[in-house]
Amino acid sequence: MLLTAPMQRDALLAGALAGGALCAGAIACVRAAHAYARVARENEQLVRELSASRARVLTVADHERRRIERDLHDGAQQRLVALQIRLALLREQIEPEAPESAAALRRFEGEIETASEEVRALAHGIYPPQLTERGLAHALRSAARGAPLPTTVHTEHIGRYGPAVESTVYFACMEALQNAAKHAHGATGVTIEVCENGRLRFEVSDDGPGFAPREHARDGSGLANLRDRLAAVGGELEIRSAPGDGTRVAGVIPVRSGP
Ligand SMILES: Nc1ncnc2c1ncn2[C@@H]1O[C@H](COP(=O)(O)OP(=O)(O)O)[C@@H](O)[C@H]1O
Ligand SMILES: [Mg+2]
Repeated sequence: MLLTAPMQRDALLAGALAGGALCAGAIACVRAAHAYARVARENEQLVRELSASRARVLTVADHERRRIERDLHDGAQQRLVALQIRLALLREQIEPEAPESAAALRRFEGEIETASEEVRALAHGIYPPQLTERGLAHALRSAARGAPLPTTVHTEHIGRYGPAVESTVYFACMEALQNAAKHAHGATGVTIEVCENGRLRFEVSDDGPGFAPREHARDGSGLANLRDRLAAVGGELEIRSAPGDGTRVAGVIPVRSGP
């Protein structure tokens, strides 16, 4: 009896392994694998929904920007131009008899001209008409001409892309350009490079004092918004900067040419 006990135990163990216990273990494993697969599927679904919702938010925001730009151009700006013409006509009429009043009117005309330019600049900052009409390269060159720091634009193999992609690259470059003017004290210039090779890539670099992105990237919301904006079109943002070494803000977006 004593001699046979270990043999019996082994046999029982083997039976258990082959049967019930192994089965229970295997079932638990299969269950865990199923649960894991379900969570992974749900995660993928959530990520897809999140990207789709980000893209929708971006599209709605850009749509709204274009509407405001149109309203400013067709409304306030046209009104100011009409007012300026009426004032000029009035001034010409009264000039021979009331030169002093005419001089005052001329000053008002100057102020209206300034207001009109401010409205134009504001509308351009909200949504530049060139971006829709003539594309990214043209809109960036136009913005570079008005930038506070000397700015050079290099573009290579740039076509037309969907409005969400074009506006993302444009506004990303504008944020980096503004940051250079605002934070890169002593910088002598900014370079914007955009090229396409299956992926649309942009890079904005300045030769300013640089900063530590890990410490300062959350000081404001500009760079954080950029990251979100790029993620909404399936892209990524990279900030390379170090104190004393300038700043490079780069991004890539997967694209197909054509609007
Ligand atoms: N080109 C740059 N040169 C130096 N520092 C920069 C530059 N760009 C960004 N920074 C730093 O990163 C911070 C965050 O930038 P951002 O998110 O655009 O916010 P904001 O411009 O509103 O401060 C800035 O406050 C600044 O400290
Ligand atoms: Mg900023």
